[in-house]
Amino acid sequence: MELRPGKVLIREEEIARRVAEVADEINRDSDGRPLTVVGVLDGCLLFLSDLMRRLSMPIEIVLLRVKTYGNATAPQKKPAISEDDIAVVRGRHVLAVDDIYDSGGTLSALTEALARLGAASVRTCVLLQKEREHAEAVDVDYVGFTVPDVFVVGYGLDYAGKWRNLAHIAELEGVDEGRKIG
Ligand code: IMP
Ligand code: MG
Repeated sequence: MELRPGKVLIREEEIARRVAEVADEINRDSDGRPLTVVGVLDGCLLFLSDLMRRLSMPIEIVLLRVKTYGNATAPQKKPAISEDDIAVVRGRHVLAVDDIYDSGGTLSALTEALARLGAASVRTCVLLQKEREHAEAVDVDYVGFTVPDVFVVGYGLDYAGKWRNLAHIAELEGVDEGRKIG
């Protein structure tokens, strides 16, 4: 069984329209105040690059990687965040941006770290939120789309490092090798 993008869940034009709406909401709420945007790599790449060019306040970008240890057989440990990478947030109004709110582990660890480092305020923004029980409840301020509890790829989201470059969001599907043509 090979896994690859199947059914298109969100088309490119829908993403563009919604990203513009989310940016408008952030602009309205921020009232021109400078914002430090903290993006979680690598998944935020496409979303953040489209979102940031529509933000109208002065912004500063901080990017970080969040490492999650563990695998399918071992319980997932809490995501590890290098506080040195984001220490510049002290006293700043912060918008944390991630590709997807799934279990909530990443966003909750990140918002905790930002608060601990003395951010003046922390708001959160995700492109996608999964329709599932979130192990770690986070109050997400801006959500692009809600998606079913399936594995999705495209527009920054990967499966095993692949499919991030798709312009749309698709469901990852199993393809029966025996039935493949060509
Ligand atoms: P969390 O479970 O909310 O901490 O999400 C952690 C990370 O898992 C996200 O930032 C994504 O990188 C990744 N992830 C979760 N669900 C999906 C998915 O459906 N497709 C691709 N990546 C996902
Ligand atoms: Mg990922």
